[in-house]
Amino acid sequence: MEIRIKKTNQSRLPHVDLSNIPFGRVFTDHMFIMDFDGEAWRNARIEPVDKLRIHPANLTLHYGQSIFEGMKAAKNEEGVPLLFRPEMHAKRLNASARRMCMPEIEEEFFIEAITQLVDLERRWIPDMDGSALYIRPLMFATDEFLGVAPSKKFTFLILTLPVGPYYTEPVKLLASDQYIRAAVGGVGEAKTAGNYAASLFPSELAQKQGFDQVLWLDGVEFKYIQEVGTMNIFFVIGNQIITPEPNGAILKGITRDSFITILRDWDLEVVERPVSIDEIVDAYDNGTLKEVFGSGTAAVAVNVKQITYKDSDLELDLSKASIADRLKQEISGIRHGSIDDTRDWIKPVLEQVQA
Ligand code: COI
Repeated sequence: MEIRIKKTNQSRLPHVDLSNIPFGRVFTDHMFIMDFDGEAWRNARIEPVDKLRIHPANLTLHYGQSIFEGMKAAKNEEGVPLLFRPEMHAKRLNASARRMCMPEIEEEFFIEAITQLVDLERRWIPDMDGSALYIRPLMFATDEFLGVAPSKKFTFLILTLPVGPYYTEPVKLLASDQYIRAAVGGVGEAKTAGNYAASLFPSELAQKQGFDQVLWLDGVEFKYIQEVGTMNIFFVIGNQIITPEPNGAILKGITRDSFITILRDWDLEVVERPVSIDEIVDAYDNGTLKEVFGSGTAAVAVNVKQITYKDSDLELDLSKASIADRLKQEISGIRHGSIDDTRDWIKPVLEQVQA
């Protein structure tokens, strides 16, 4: 399918300070958008970012049939934008689509749409360390119908945003023994809006108590660690790096997968298995818990400085933590092309569209 391009007459870029950008608030000039009419995706176009007209009975607004992705592009030394593992994001979007009764998008077309948009917006990619162009593909239902049934029509769009780091400091987590994010059999593995909505109230409560985020436990026993919501989680215990194994309730993070691959390539032992919160408290008490960190596209690699669970405050000694930093440098190097891409993770965006 051909992608029609309508460019803005007036770029907002001259009014944006790319060296000082809050996460998620500054958008580039254009977005990609196309519609599913019940049979096929049609009318693919890149056009200036604008408000959408939504009917008040829009099915997404009422029942949350909506999925998204989060990816990044950075520039190499020659200024060529590099996409990081776009085919993995296409696959995960389609997995979310299947779970949420939504139409899939051909992988190649998904990558082509992102490539053309990033090509057009290449001047928006920030140069500074830790910054990148964040890419937010989003699909949502557009039927105007109040029955609880899958929509037949959908919109898919892609926003791009210059971003700085999501977390600028190590984080404090509250392991919740009261609220859950997702349960096995639910939609925890899908990147769907409702998972994030479910996290808002408990996260606000945690923030009021001085924590940055909630560390989610399983929904049956409140015992097994799942993830943080904005990121997956890793524990360094003795000589092993342990991370909860995906069980249907945990998002299969692409940064998580990349870190596991890199760590194994470094000959470090990574184990994916159920991890109980009691085991983490024990490891802290007996001195074998060396480091805890989160992984995510937005977050990259972030150290955890404290986990609180019931009466236990696990305060981690960050001077002993080194793995998250090493991973961050490695993945940033790969993303910026200063470290060889030996695993075929990078797709350069060559100049096609005239900016
Ligand atoms: C991402 O890391 O891309 C995410 O989607 C997490 C988001 C909530 C910022």
